[in-house]
Amino acid sequence: MSADLVVVANRLPVDRVVADDGSTGWRRSPGGLVSALLPVMQANHGAWIGWTGGHDREMDPFEEEGITLVPVALSATEVEEYYEGFSNDTLWPLYHDLVAKPSFHREWWEAYQRVNQRFAEKAAEVAAQGATVWVQDYQLQLVPAILRTLRPDLKIGFYLHIPFPPTELFSQLPWRRELLEGLLGADLVGFQMPGGAANFVRLVKQRVGHRTHRDRVQLPDGRIVRAQAFPISIDTQRYESLARDEAVVSRAQEIREQLGNPATVFLGIDRLDYTKGIYARLRAFSELIHDGEFSVEDAVFVQVATPSRERVDQYRQMRDEIERLVGRINGDLGRLGRPPISYLHSSYPIEEMAALYRAADVMVVTPFRDGMNLVAKEYVACRTDNTGALVLSEFAGAAAELRQAYLVNPYDINGMKAQMLAAYHASAAERTKRMRAMRRTISQHDVARWASSFLRALKAY
Ligand code: F6P
Repeated sequence: MSADLVVVANRLPVDRVVADDGSTGWRRSPGGLVSALLPVMQANHGAWIGWTGGHDREMDPFEEEGITLVPVALSATEVEEYYEGFSNDTLWPLYHDLVAKPSFHREWWEAYQRVNQRFAEKAAEVAAQGATVWVQDYQLQLVPAILRTLRPDLKIGFYLHIPFPPTELFSQLPWRRELLEGLLGADLVGFQMPGGAANFVRLVKQRVGHRTHRDRVQLPDGRIVRAQAFPISIDTQRYESLARDEAVVSRAQEIREQLGNPATVFLGIDRLDYTKGIYARLRAFSELIHDGEFSVEDAVFVQVATPSRERVDQYRQMRDEIERLVGRINGDLGRLGRPPISYLHSSYPIEEMAALYRAADVMVVTPFRDGMNLVAKEYVACRTDNTGALVLSEFAGAAAELRQAYLVNPYDINGMKAQMLAAYHASAAERTKRMRAMRRTISQHDVARWASSFLRALKAY
């Protein structure tokens, strides 16, 4: 096959589903990336290369919704070393400000190189002459350079969905130069924030020695690589129309009833990840009850923790710590039928998420470091009547756009308590003023605009 637009990502945009009769099929994964790219891929003989999420043997490409899906097989050891190991136990904590300690293992690095080579080879195989290839995220940072060697005719873009760290942190990596050179295979390297792009250019100058000027790197062969920020977003309209859907509206009401109709519902929805600051936020909430700022009759905190990377040690430990804390808070401060925290370790369909967003008066998003944080944007999109308040970490990329949120430093528990309280006590007029401004921002900056601006910049190269 020959595709004019190829997306290379760690995962395919579909999940395997098993029907009642035992037969298996595929269902499109939730998430804005695929819905944003689908129309342009359908119009451009698109192909998406990615892992199925299992331990598969080689599988043939297949068609779904007018695009070709090209599975990449990973063995159990590769999942352990490339995905759980190097991607999620080395790069993930390192790129998130060392919120947890990264592990450096040479055999993980070898697996990362091997798997990146495999993804690049697949892309080289399926891309048409002169095609555009868009490589996604930290799991695949070596793909651009390998691909350029295999197919110099291609236009190659790379986008990093997570933060790109300051030079002092990145420099800990024993393979720092190889990773930078991997990214330099692209024509355009996209970041969430201008700071990430600046970190990258500075590191390239320091560690690889190329000449740089502002957002440009000049390679010895004359090629120019650009590094720019393209803050990602959500499918705003989809969330807005879901939030207006009658079934979602009545489900939101039902959720409040099930919680015992408290005056104020606080909500956190996160992947269960140590970067998200779940522990500190729940402590802050419990202290507010303990201090007598509000009672368990007045307020409840719903915390949805979506299972994630459960075989990585630090994730397991963090789950235990959070669940111990929830037990302790509910045991110490709860009354019969009134636990202060309603904790759900589960993932939910998008309709239920929209209902939760509609049901919540105060959304609390307090990561220690986050590339963007789409949950914050989803909440804003669902507040179609301009009610509700958002408490948001200043260390989430989203804080640069959602400036009318109640911004917090998640390391400062007292500061976080003060802002949660300010959001709790804010007048309806104050909340509306802030929410209206944030809704305007995200209605103008949605994921379709993000994708088209990246692809336009890559094309203009
Ligand atoms: O935010 C980075 C990211 O890799 C997303 O692309 C992805 O949806 C999420 O984290 C979950 O990660 P994983 O693919 O490891 O389950």
